[in-house]
Amino acid sequence: MVQIRSFLFIFLCLLGYGGLAKGVSGLAVNWGLQSTHPLPPDIVVRLLKDNGFNKVKLFEADPGALRALGRSGIQVMVGIPNDMLASLASAVGNAEAWVQQNVSNYISSHGTDIRSVAIGNEPFLQDYKDQFVNTIFPALENIQAALIKAGLGKQVKATIPLNADVYRTDSGLPSGGYFRPELQNLMMNIIKFLQDNGGFLTINIYPFLSLQADPNFPKEYAFFNNTSSPLVDGSVVYTNVYDANFDTLISALEKNGFGRMPVVVGEVGWPTDGDPSANIDNAKRFTQALVDRIVQGQGSPRRRTPPDVYIFSLVDEDHKSTLPGNFERHWGIFKYDGSIKYPLDMGNGRAIVPAKGVKYLAKQWCVMSPSAGVSDPNTLAQSITYACENGDCTSLGYGSSCGNLDAQSNASYAFNSYFQTMNQSKDACSFNNLAVITTVDPSKPPCLFEIMIDIRKQKASPSVYRSSAAKIEGIFAALILGIVGSFI
Ligand SMILES: *[C@@H]1O[C@H](CO)[C@@H](O)[C@H](O)[C@H]1NC(C)=O
Ligand SMILES: *[C@@H]1O[C@H](CO)[C@@H](O)[C@H](O)[C@H]1NC(C)=O
Ligand SMILES: *[C@@H]1O[C@H](CO)[C@@H](O)[C@H](O)[C@H]1NC(C)=O
Ligand SMILES: *[C@@H]1O[C@H](CO)[C@@H](O)[C@H](O)[C@H]1NC(C)=O
Ligand SMILES: *[C@@H]1O[C@H](CO)[C@@H](O)[C@H](O)[C@H]1NC(C)=O
Repeated sequence: MVQIRSFLFIFLCLLGYGGLAKGVSGLAVNWGLQSTHPLPPDIVVRLLKDNGFNKVKLFEADPGALRALGRSGIQVMVGIPNDMLASLASAVGNAEAWVQQNVSNYISSHGTDIRSVAIGNEPFLQDYKDQFVNTIFPALENIQAALIKAGLGKQVKATIPLNADVYRTDSGLPSGGYFRPELQNLMMNIIKFLQDNGGFLTINIYPFLSLQADPNFPKEYAFFNNTSSPLVDGSVVYTNVYDANFDTLISALEKNGFGRMPVVVGEVGWPTDGDPSANIDNAKRFTQALVDRIVQGQGSPRRRTPPDVYIFSLVDEDHKSTLPGNFERHWGIFKYDGSIKYPLDMGNGRAIVPAKGVKYLAKQWCVMSPSAGVSDPNTLAQSITYACENGDCTSLGYGSSCGNLDAQSNASYAFNSYFQTMNQSKDACSFNNLAVITTVDPSKPPCLFEIMIDIRKQKASPSVYRSSAAKIEGIFAALILGIVGSFI
């Protein structure tokens, strides 16, 4: 035993050294799939690896993503959407079926390194009006029981991603943190259960939303590198809302005797469009400083050990609900097609790299016909509304990248978005003869008229990218898992 352990230790050190030598800093990211034309999963997996992401969080057990992640060396947190909670809470058999199909199956048949299951997503959001308050805990209990029954009780941890509004502080100081009184008992049950089963708590923190929702929010405090308006909390000085928010949770946990409860940041990021505060400059400033902190292993004042931090998010998603705001479709550090939005140092001087092997539809756009200038304004307005309902016009609003277009270009943008969403079908560029197809790029930077990904071409010639080096890493990872599982 002892010999095996020291062998393992040396082996792990060697691996760790190899990782460092390559500059693998261990970044984590959310991979959302709410796009009309999602990138092929194998391209995304290569994008993750190329940029040093070794952990990924999925919002659902998407078969394509889970298969592509198999033997990739990337650890996976797989999510369960809120609308499945009732069924999972109602019978342990349902949870067993879910774990069998969506966890065990991928681990055993595809070598997917699933490490945790995120049960629900921000179930206590006040907008949900207590819908999930009665199902979240029994769903957690049932999934945990199912994981244990499947023999995965040690390997796969349970968690619940929470919105930061589960806790409060009346003084405005992190040290005053406490759980919302109506959730106090439930939170205690959840936290105790997670702790007893080796799970962890997940918290989503959004400095952007703090800034966006409150015109009086001190802008610099949303970022990491200006100390001009700090918050003084006893002996601790907070220079950014991210640390202050995180520590409010830590102090709420400490107050309830759970000061050692592991906490993971499930979502944090900055959108690039769809709001005056959502732009490339702010996103770059926030995200670069965030990545630097992660790479340096920086924790918060109350908890020096750095948490795992899942950046939100990997790519833009043009099919997300815009209820929270137009920015909701622009959280990606990459665009919808895996191209780079802004330069980022991903750690140790390694520059961010774009997705490779992406195939596009033809270089053509749908624009308002020049001869349609004096048409019936009602028809035009209706056409734009229709195009925007089915396409994506979230860049057209005030303060957004296409917010300064004249009326003609504005209509063109809407028409083109619809046309691209509809795979450039000829019928999708008619609008009662108000629109025509052009091969001249109508983009007016910073406003870009995009061309959509060609899903069909992409499927016809699937890219085979996984290098043999990656395969070997995957085998080592599996070996270590096996050894650790049986001897430690
Ligand atoms: C997971 O498993 C269940 C079986 O309980 C199935 O109905 C469901 O569609 C699966 N997929 C996802 C994405 O949850
Ligand atoms: C820091 O923030 C303050 C307050 O917003 C601002 O006046 C100051 O110019 C900022 N400092 C730098 C170096 O950006
Ligand atoms: C913070 O960093 C950004 C670049 O990441 C830079 O543009 C900005 O001036 C910095 N602000 C301060 C106060 O250092
Ligand atoms: C452009 O279109 C959007 C979406 O229909 C609309 O909200 C906006 O007012 C339009 N702007 C102009 C300048 O026509
Ligand atoms: C676009 O083409 C892809 C691949 O053929 C297809 O799956 C998708 O449904 C099409 N979208 C529309 C809106 O027709």
